Amino acid sequence: MAMRWHQAMERALYGTDGFFVSGAGPAAHFRTSVHASPVFAGALLRLIHHLDGVLGFPSVFDVVDVGAGRGELLRSLSVGVSGESARSGRSGLIPARAGSPETPTTTATVRPSPVNPLTITTGYDDSCASDLTVGGSVPLVERVRFTAVELAPRPDDLPEEIRWTDRIPAGVTGLLLATEWLDNVPLDLAVHSQHGWHYLLVDPTSGEETIGDPLSRADLDWLSTWWPSPLVPDSDSSTGSGFRATPTDRTPVPLERVEIGRTRDEAWADAVGHVERGLALAVDYGHLRAERPVDGTLTGYRAGRQVPPVPDGSCDVTAHVAMDSVASAGERVARCAYLLGAQRDGLRALGADGGRPPLSLAAGDPAGYVRALAAASAAAELTDPAGLGGHLWLWQPVGLSTDLLPAGCAGPIDTAAPS
Ligand SMILES: C[S@@+](CC[C@H](N)C(=O)[O-])C[C@H]1O[C@@H](n2cnc3c(N)ncnc32)[C@H](O)[C@@H]1O
Repeated sequence: MAMRWHQAMERALYGTDGFFVSGAGPAAHFRTSVHASPVFAGALLRLIHHLDGVLGFPSVFDVVDVGAGRGELLRSLSVGVSGESARSGRSGLIPARAGSPETPTTTATVRPSPVNPLTITTGYDDSCASDLTVGGSVPLVERVRFTAVELAPRPDDLPEEIRWTDRIPAGVTGLLLATEWLDNVPLDLAVHSQHGWHYLLVDPTSGEETIGDPLSRADLDWLSTWWPSPLVPDSDSSTGSGFRATPTDRTPVPLERVEIGRTRDEAWADAVGHVERGLALAVDYGHLRAERPVDGTLTGYRAGRQVPPVPDGSCDVTAHVAMDSVASAGERVARCAYLLGAQRDGLRALGADGGRPPLSLAAGDPAGYVRALAAASAAAELTDPAGLGGHLWLWQPVGLSTDLLPAGCAGPIDTAAPS
């Protein structure tokens, strides 16, 4: 039976035996930055230390990974924190806390946000602290609390210091991460005709699309704010290039499609609302209002291959994220300005630049040169603008000013870069 795309994605990815909640997990089907290189976790470890200082070394420093896959990133970060402590002679992680009851979080008053994707909004700066706190004597390893938020069941071999829950915990102080989560938040697709905007329906078994009801007011508002209208087809044409369907037609859809990102905005705003103080960081492939992809980006992945996005539970179904819209929604909740930049800038600011070491180093310190070369090639895949380096990093501080983020973490976005 045909249904709207967001329902079909929900069932295919997260229903009983859904693609993400059963089987081997995302890493068996595609490569994310988390899987590509330990350089990624190393950079985030540096970010954790940076934030720890900015937050004044809180008694509990939360690291929450939303859409954690099988916990790969948190395993690395946990090893990283423990390893540092072993080298410094410290030991002990705070024990896992059973359960994590969700507390409703108050959202801030909504305020219209400027539609300018390349400009950092600064309207909230006054309420966001810009002083660095110094001090702290208890090592991070004794204060850090790792929480994986995931709809899939907890892996049997996950270290016990990593908590596992299907709800974002309230009152996060520290870092909330979401790497390639938002692109898997189910969304609706629509087409435009002389009858106005209509949802696309999909048959979950065949993937065949038909035209459904007119869009809701909320979805229409989202489109008019965030996705400039495609050309309305010639209504006189009777060929496949024209569009003569009425809302009751059940014919295949030949038209340009758009992806309605409202559900991603809501998901991100909700996540940000769970942070009391610190940083929410979303890393994903995305696009900005000035350059929405014609026909959208919906696609599928299975066993390392790109496949048609048939929502039958046998493959990933994903669409790039309207990152500026998501950013605006998060900012309204955080009431602090955000930064939006490319992955390569984020990683460079965190000490992983992917650049080759100077040849002069080879003469003076051959072993150091080889080490630097190995580190550079490990980072290169993550910073390649045509690949993972083209991912967008959305830095949303909560209770903090953007001045306190690592210097240069979000350089100007090259909108011509593939996303
Ligand atoms: C593409 S995978 C990314 C995994 C990992 N973060 C990485 O970068 O490799 C997306 C993950 O998000 C999870 N997910 C999607 N919606 C979720 C939700 N509402 N709560 C928790 N996890 C969710 C999926 O189950 C899936 O494991």
